[in-house]
Amino acid sequence: MLKHAISTTQFLDKGLLDRLCKRAAELAAMPLAEYPKPLEHLTIASIFFEPSTRTRLSFETAIQNLGAHLITVENAGESSSGKKGESLEDTIRVINCYADGIIMRHPEIGSAARAAAVSQVPIINAGDGAGDHPTQGLLDTYTIYKAKKSPNGLKIAFVGDLLFGRTVHSLAQLLSLYKVEFVFISPGSLRMPKEYLADLTRKGIKYTELDSWDKVIGDVDVLYMTRVQKERFKLVEDYMAVKDSFILNLPIVKKMKKDAIIMHPLPRVNEIEPAVDADPRAMYFQEVRNGLYMRMALLEHMFDN
Ligand code: NCD
Repeated sequence: MLKHAISTTQFLDKGLLDRLCKRAAELAAMPLAEYPKPLEHLTIASIFFEPSTRTRLSFETAIQNLGAHLITVENAGESSSGKKGESLEDTIRVINCYADGIIMRHPEIGSAARAAAVSQVPIINAGDGAGDHPTQGLLDTYTIYKAKKSPNGLKIAFVGDLLFGRTVHSLAQLLSLYKVEFVFISPGSLRMPKEYLADLTRKGIKYTELDSWDKVIGDVDVLYMTRVQKERFKLVEDYMAVKDSFILNLPIVKKMKKDAIIMHPLPRVNEIEPAVDADPRAMYFQEVRNGLYMRMALLEHMFDN
């Protein structure tokens, strides 16, 4: 049983991943009226210091589907007492007086761990800066399970902003539990951080780093596209120089395997042309739906005792 869910490293357990994916699939097949209510009588807070559509709304839907009360602060950087100078630790101590669990997104790497250090109630990390996004990793793993049965044997390409893209950091760690091969495709300035690569080497996972997808697009099983994370750049010029490095369009999709899948955590800016959406390989809107069930499965796992 997990107390907090702050780091993807807590989910590096195939048995746990398997159980969560199976449970997400069961919940997906269940009519709303039959959902269990293991969170009845609990109050869960969601506090987002950074923009979010999917993560916040899917958590908030999941919380209510499972019977809990929801209290929520969106745009917390502006509308919570952090704006008056309150420390993150104090904000968490205060929310502890109202809630039995806290879903939190914050722009600083390590903020979820800081929150957990002072919280009596579970903290779930909904993204900490350019660090980690464990629940997106879980729902992306579930998406691969659903579409390809298992990650074993797959060649998986991550494309775009691999430096700041926390969803890539999470998913690569989870998939490294399996027999996979990775291709990291990015501009030179947005490569996968060294510590994640070192971890893959330690685990014996084969990977290559490329700055073009031309030679590999025809052999990948999973193409995981990402948005260049504009908000993490210090200089606008640096963002402008890389923002259009990889744009997926129909002529490129045509070169892909017939049974490949195209993923993206969303939001997209212009890295996937809307014309691609109708291709049966495009999974990104299904990923959104999968996120609801995976987050329900996780909340059940953490709060049902
Ligand atoms: C991602 C995030 O916030 O890291 N979005 C999400 O949670 N689905 C990806 C992004 O913002 O580019």
